[in-house]
Amino acid sequence: MLTPEQNIAEEAARAGGAVAARYFREGVAMRTKDIANLVSDADVEAEHAIAAVIRKTFPSHAILGEEAHEGDTTAEHLWIVDPIDGTTNFAHQIPHFAVSVAYYHHGVAQCGVIYNPIREEWHSAAKGQGAFHDGRKVQVDDATRLDQSVVGVGFYYDRDAMMQATLEAIGDLKRRQIHGIRRFGTASLDLCMVGLGRFGAYFEFQLSPWDFAAGRLFVEEAGGKVTDALGNPLPLARSSILATNGPLHEPMLDVIRSRCPQ
Ligand code: IPD
Ligand code: CA
Ligand code: CA
Repeated sequence: MLTPEQNIAEEAARAGGAVAARYFREGVAMRTKDIANLVSDADVEAEHAIAAVIRKTFPSHAILGEEAHEGDTTAEHLWIVDPIDGTTNFAHQIPHFAVSVAYYHHGVAQCGVIYNPIREEWHSAAKGQGAFHDGRKVQVDDATRLDQSVVGVGFYYDRDAMMQATLEAIGDLKRRQIHGIRRFGTASLDLCMVGLGRFGAYFEFQLSPWDFAAGRLFVEEAGGKVTDALGNPLPLARSSILATNGPLHEPMLDVIRSRCPQ
């Protein structure tokens, strides 16, 4: 039995996904927020559609969304929304982006949904109940060494020190003989890749809460581990992130910790 919050998370993601998919097919003008950070009417309209579904059932809950909602992260009941995660893919007609919706109670993730509306692919997780991919329960993989794994990475919009640090960390991982490095451009789906057992690990030196709010629960409920890139508990704030299957957490920290900009 799904909780009311799980039902609403799914309904909200479906509503946001319908808006994003329509614009993806019909085309939409993109604007830049700052250099190379894109946004469009699709992002804003999808976020309003998601918020409308949440507000209908939970009018008193706070909403934090990337584009149009500034909900307080200390609120008792908080929804965290990225209407289109992977906007650069969206803008370039690459069907790898997602709607991410999560519900937090007193700062603790209770449920989350990551939905790719083009592939109609659902990832969902609920605290204590597991992680599910299109209805099937999933688990992280069981690799114990970096040389058994593919590692996912993301670059924040920075093109200076943060980018350089990320490239150095990638070089270090390559020298540890990982099978490969992947940069797919959608943080929420990168986290799902860890939960699905496809990536042994994923890291990024800066993310916002809406990028990881649902995906971190997906990883944890699939049996993995999520911290910042120094090994500290992940805050509900802008942060670096490391998500792994568990056994790869320390080996990954050994490599990336010293590269993470403070
Ligand atoms: C971005 C994507 C990307 C990650 C960036 C995020 P957006 O989100 O998740 O994969 O590397 O750090 O900002 O802007 O497409 O919602
Ligand atoms: Ca995002
Ligand atoms: Ca976004």
